[in-house]
Amino acid sequence: MTVETAAQAAYIVAALLFILSLAGLSRHETSRSGVALGICGMVIALAATIAGAASGLTTTGIVLLVAAMAIGAAIGLWRARIVEMTGMPELIAILHSFVGLAAVLVGWNGYLQVEANGAAAGEVAGSLLGIHHAEVSIGVIIGALTFTGSVVAFLKLSGRIDSSPMMLPGKNYLNLGAIAAFAVLTVLFVISPGLGLLIALTTVALLLGWHLVASIGGGDMPVVVSMLNSYSGWAAAASGFLLDNNLLIVTGALVGSSGAYLSYIMCQAMNRSFISVIAGGFGIEMASADAGDYGEHREITAADTAELLKDAKSVIITPGYGMAVAQAQYPVAELTRRLRERGVDVRFGIHPVAGRLPGHMNVLLAEAKVPYDIVLELDEINDDFPGTSVVLVIGANDTVNPAAIDDPASPIAGMPVLHVWEAEDVIVFKRSMAPGYAGVQNPLFFRDNSRMLFGDARQRVEEIVAAL
Ligand code: TAP
Repeated sequence: MTVETAAQAAYIVAALLFILSLAGLSRHETSRSGVALGICGMVIALAATIAGAASGLTTTGIVLLVAAMAIGAAIGLWRARIVEMTGMPELIAILHSFVGLAAVLVGWNGYLQVEANGAAAGEVAGSLLGIHHAEVSIGVIIGALTFTGSVVAFLKLSGRIDSSPMMLPGKNYLNLGAIAAFAVLTVLFVISPGLGLLIALTTVALLLGWHLVASIGGGDMPVVVSMLNSYSGWAAAASGFLLDNNLLIVTGALVGSSGAYLSYIMCQAMNRSFISVIAGGFGIEMASADAGDYGEHREITAADTAELLKDAKSVIITPGYGMAVAQAQYPVAELTRRLRERGVDVRFGIHPVAGRLPGHMNVLLAEAKVPYDIVLELDEINDDFPGTSVVLVIGANDTVNPAAIDDPASPIAGMPVLHVWEAEDVIVFKRSMAPGYAGVQNPLFFRDNSRMLFGDARQRVEEIVAAL
């Protein structure tokens, strides 16, 4: 068996492991084995690719390959070890940008190689040359778009630039113009390839990626991240065609399609149009958020909250990003246990985009050993707020904002939210009156039945547990 045949066989095994990994990742109970299968698949894929490449390389080539892998692996391990759970989306965004950049480099390399060797001397000749140039063009477009889009997503998610949508005049026409430019440039590039055309294609794609993501507002960033995940998959698949690597094509298609499906599910959960989000907020005319005068908010102490909870029959806890920042899940789990011992019915209401990752709150609560059966999704719990004595909003803001329902001009208008204000009493745990991720004020804080418990969520919950 030649190295090439062995590599192809290993690729089939790796592709199957990736499919099994995705299947495992779709359920809580099997997610750990899903990750393990994915790691096995990647080890096999890397070993097969290196063995395949090494047979055609000089010693210097092999040394360079190993050195590049060692540096990449060291940086990857270091970042993964120190990243906080709350910093995960921005890490994912920047990793997507690398996939995009790699696809651009592979595309450029594909073009320059044919240029240097001459079409006849290379592996591609005749009518295949046209297909090769179309692959270069498509790979470079998707890669460049993913690269700048992911960089903007990283900057927004890490708070380095403002998360509000950039509103250039005629933004939809700019996007449509860029797509028309791609079509024309790709046709010209296939007919008569040239460096100038490739530079033009790359520049338009870089600008479009930047514009598409910059035009999307804070509240819709979760969808953008999964959409960029999808784009990075298609970029990898395009590179697979250029490098003639079947596994890269299969893996890219798996990432591309699963990312697209995740974006679609998230759009449904957020009541957003899929097309509008992937087209950079196409058709959304954003009204300016109204600063509004909501009146005065009222405060409560931890001791008074404990008193309120002692008399409560039922409690719903709606956690958000602030619970993750404060690492308050452990005292929250302890509070839940104490209240349940006292006969209080305690449940959790989880919004699909609470926190900064899909399933962020579920992971934190599972970590603190909160029983699964009292952790409910938005749809399962939203009708139960009217009969509830107390709601504890722990570090959540956008996901409990009634403006999404009451104010059509709000940037989060139409997004489903937890109807916490329908309960008898609402206690909001946060450190200040600052807005949430989407940057809009929350009228919930000024309602008659709401009180603010200011301070770090972990400290405040610990004080309540002590008082109980
Ligand atoms: P946010 O709207 O982000 O609000 C979190 C609140 O937590 C803030 O208002 C903050 O107020 C408070 N907070 C921060 N640190 C705290 C601490 N140590 N103790 C107490 N409170 C603290 O949270 P959310 O309701 O979970 O909504 C999530 C938002 O993120 C949505 O807009 C969503 O679209 C977006 N997003 C979600 C994802 C995914 S996939 N889940 C990904 C990207 C973006 P103070 O500063 O006043 O304390």
